[in-house]
Amino acid sequence: MMDWTDRHCRSLHRALTRHALLYSEMVTTGAVLHGDRDRLLGHDAGEYPLALQLGGSDPADLAASARIGEDFGYQEINLNVGCPSDRVQSGRFGACLMREPDLVAEAMAAIRGAVSVPATVKCRIGVDDQDPEESLFTLVDRCAAAGVTTFIVHARKAWLKGLSPKQNRDVPPLDYPLVWRLKQARPELTIVINGGIGSLEAALPHLDQLDGVMLGRAAYHTPDLLGRVDQLIFGEAGEVTPEAAIERYRPYMAGQLALGTPLAAMSRHMLGLFHGRPGARAWRRILTVEGIRPGAGLEVLDLALAAVSGAQGQVGRGGVETGEAAEIAHAQERGVQAVIQDQGLDVFQMGSGDGD
Ligand SMILES: Cc1cc2nc3c(=O)[nH]c(=O)nc-3n(C[C@H](O)[C@H](O)[C@H](O)COP(=O)(O)O)c2cc1C
Repeated sequence: MMDWTDRHCRSLHRALTRHALLYSEMVTTGAVLHGDRDRLLGHDAGEYPLALQLGGSDPADLAASARIGEDFGYQEINLNVGCPSDRVQSGRFGACLMREPDLVAEAMAAIRGAVSVPATVKCRIGVDDQDPEESLFTLVDRCAAAGVTTFIVHARKAWLKGLSPKQNRDVPPLDYPLVWRLKQARPELTIVINGGIGSLEAALPHLDQLDGVMLGRAAYHTPDLLGRVDQLIFGEAGEVTPEAAIERYRPYMAGQLALGTPLAAMSRHMLGLFHGRPGARAWRRILTVEGIRPGAGLEVLDLALAAVSGAQGQVGRGGVETGEAAEIAHAQERGVQAVIQDQGLDVFQMGSGDGD
């Protein structure tokens, strides 16, 4: 997800789950071919398994970009056929490619010819006035004829005129049964569903019907759910708590800080880690207010963690509200200079308006 699932975010998510496949932000072919590749494609091997999502429609450019991506170490090349933003439409890629299944198939054939890792498609079920039954099956069948075997389907149309990218993630109605029918009709294909799935529990019924579930906003806003993926979905023993994930992530953070990466570039992805738990607000406040100060380091993380564990201790004695107040006081006693404001901090404010 653009602006969200950067390398720092993905390293955090990998600390929570070893098995979930992680995806990059969409990177356009123009950026891959002419931009600062190390900045755009660089990542840590600790993020694997990792897919690179490309945006583009020119088969030769996609093939060249895919090869570069494979050389960088990505284990899958995915083509975006779902982004509805105006910028993307003017470049004739993203969701508007739902209208050009032959071009998508040609592009996928070119990508497949250029790399040895899997080449996959992430698409919508249709755009505008298309009949989704027709547009989805046509796109999938043309690409399958070109050798593509894995499709991630965002189970709603994109309306290319009149809706913002954000509205296009919520307003067009979801049609999960259509995606299930696609799998029933094409059982040889790997079909992964996406769109509006807010928890692992909500993902489970889809896994009875399909090969996988992609979580977007839920994984970002409540990353703690990823700590249960390996246990619940992949059958491993035990879940990874947010605290354990932070300990795994800490060496990565230390390494990045040493390279000059600001703490906030990493801590901004951590705000939802304690979502719904005592101390969650203090955690967010400390990371947000303290984490953006120049020179902020791991001491901010420790302070925020202390606030959470203080709040957990208080719950048994005084309930969540009391616990939260106490843990803020506790954190302040420990020298937090945070300006704690009355209004809650909105975790959901950041991010790109354009991505999809
Ligand atoms: C900030 C943001 C950026 C996104 N960027 C991308 C992107 O680069 N590529 C993509 O395929 N989808 C992108 N998406 C869409 C998500 O991948 C996903 O398809 C959509 O949010 C619906 O799934 P969800 O309900 O699980 O979030 C983005 C979504 C958001 C909120």
